[in-house]
Amino acid sequence: MNIVILTGSPHRGGTSDYLAERFEEGAKRVGNRVVRFDTAFMNVGFCRGCNRCEGGLKDCVLKDDFELMKPELLDADVIVFAMPLIYYGVPGQLKCAIDRFYGIDFGLRKKQKSVVLLLTCGEIHEERCISVTSEYQLMNEYFGWYDLGKVIALGSMNRELIEKTQYGDEAYELGRKMVRE
Ligand SMILES: Cc1cc2nc3c(=O)[nH]c(=O)nc-3n(C[C@H](O)[C@H](O)[C@H](O)COP(=O)(O)O)c2cc1C
Repeated sequence: MNIVILTGSPHRGGTSDYLAERFEEGAKRVGNRVVRFDTAFMNVGFCRGCNRCEGGLKDCVLKDDFELMKPELLDADVIVFAMPLIYYGVPGQLKCAIDRFYGIDFGLRKKQKSVVLLLTCGEIHEERCISVTSEYQLMNEYFGWYDLGKVIALGSMNRELIEKTQYGDEAYELGRKMVRE
């Protein structure tokens, strides 16, 4: 399968990077093709809401690194969102990229896609992650995507802490489950 990982952290070697790496390791182990885009290191502008793309019927007026992501996202069987919780929400860099989905909105519904959420945070109560988990769920309903699983790494303020937990192994095992039914 074609798997696209979108990360949202500016920390190379940070906690969400760690989960993304472990997931990728597992997914490649069972023969998947994995492409990763680190949005924090890319030039992806915010959607202007100008509607000149008409929801993906025409080209977006912005010409930036989202052009690189477009073909991979359209062709993906699975999209993985890997991010830290930032002020109880999706980090800005990744949200910018997600908002640009509008430019390929129709295309993203054409091919049946599945999704995965890898989330890290300092919080120890999962309900405090509701802004991210509910956005993920509502987006899945909107696009008609199927949730293949989540790793919500609570109490994972930094790499040292997360490496002491089971979350890395959970991400790896989720990656290994990425096989066509
Ligand atoms: C600006 C900023 C805001 C944050 N906001 C939250 C938050 O609202 N809730 C939380 O549990 N952790 C919060 N954190 C902690 C991060 O989610 C946590 O450190 C995470 O492991 C960072 O992931 P990374 O290493 O992949 O960047 C915040 C961190 C930063 C830098």
